[in-house]
Amino acid sequence: MGNRVINKALKALRGEVIIPGDKSVSHRSVMFSALGDTPVHITNFLPSADCLSTVGVMRALGAKVDIISDTELVVEGNGLHGLQEPATILDAGNSGTTLRLMMGMLAPQKFVSVFTGDSSLHKRPMGRVIKPLSRMGAHIVGRADNTKLPITIVPVEGRLKGYRYEMPVASAQVKSAMLLAGLFAEGETTVVEPYPSRNHTELMLEAFGVELKYEGTSITIKAPEKMTAPEELVVPGDISSAAFWLVAASIIPGSELLLKNVGINETRTGIIDVLQDMGADITIINERKSGGEPVADMLVKYAQLHGTSFGADIIPRLVDEIPAIAVAAMFAQGDTVITGAGELRVKETDRLEAICQQFTRLGGNIEGTEDGLVIHGGTVPKMAECFSYNDHRMAMCLAVLGLAGAGVEIQEPDCVDISYPSFYDEVDRLTK
Ligand code: S3P
Repeated sequence: MGNRVINKALKALRGEVIIPGDKSVSHRSVMFSALGDTPVHITNFLPSADCLSTVGVMRALGAKVDIISDTELVVEGNGLHGLQEPATILDAGNSGTTLRLMMGMLAPQKFVSVFTGDSSLHKRPMGRVIKPLSRMGAHIVGRADNTKLPITIVPVEGRLKGYRYEMPVASAQVKSAMLLAGLFAEGETTVVEPYPSRNHTELMLEAFGVELKYEGTSITIKAPEKMTAPEELVVPGDISSAAFWLVAASIIPGSELLLKNVGINETRTGIIDVLQDMGADITIINERKSGGEPVADMLVKYAQLHGTSFGADIIPRLVDEIPAIAVAAMFAQGDTVITGAGELRVKETDRLEAICQQFTRLGGNIEGTEDGLVIHGGTVPKMAECFSYNDHRMAMCLAVLGLAGAGVEIQEPDCVDISYPSFYDEVDRLTK
């Protein structure tokens, strides 16, 4: 795997970008369809390495997954209680979503399952899911005092018990693991979030006929008799992928991009609020519903940005977009102060540290704090060789920084396959 050189864009970015399917929704579409007993036709599926890890895991558990084309699948499960004991170790690859959600789905089952993953996933904290599931009666054994991969889920006697869990950090993965365990538990399972995180699990459970009760920031589930699969699931475009184009077009003079088919679920649109607050010229058009999720097109034009500050309350709505926002902040006038983002230290890599190290190489003036960043805007970019940390969102934000700045050479560039396999093709197309 060689380095990838991204040259400074010699002209404005103009035209259309069709945004590929949402990673979070693609994972859930396969997982939930495997709990129904009629076929589900999934379209605009994201054929990325992470989502294919979920396909592999669900197949190992007995689900029938037919890949019709890159973005089109038919999934048929064996019903809510039809998961089968896997004959192999389940490999979640680089995907925290696959691992954490599936721990919730498998903890109540009557068979053993063993998980592994790649070296990044082995370092990430799993105690945040193991602990609350154990309070429901689950038997989960992991390395490093039950916090890390490899992880074994041992069958329980009887059923898990419903539990009320007040989550210390806002995390859609932890919330989803608890709701999935709650599908099989005795009594009610409630999760209470400090701030609302993405709600794709809730929306999709409802699309499968499962009733949820909402009260303030709490969500309650009771085991249903069955999951009623819809015939069709349409995955919206991923705003976390659109984020790189929103930023690139905002900072490369003269640019004007139309981003087509972007999910605008309000638990995900924090980046729009922040960029608009920085002076970005973004217009949301053609709003519509697609498969139970709101989608729209976005017209983004170059604008001189200025610094801003934001903190814990909005972080869950833009948690994956901070690397892209940090690029915008480097090209803005004045300082940008980000707080309450400690969760970035436990993503695919420590993204706060990675941003500080690599942006500095590219001419940025940036300081890391315990839970955030201070980015002094308006510095002069330099060309440099940079490391992606094998983290897809780091590679893509470095590419955007190079396009808008003085170019970049990225080590371990191929990790973009995790969430946006066609990213470099789009870079080439738009800069040709
Ligand atoms: C995800 C939730 C978020 C996000 C991740 C996808 C999901 O993680 O960062 O990329 O699909 O539920 P946390 O739940 O750890 O915040």
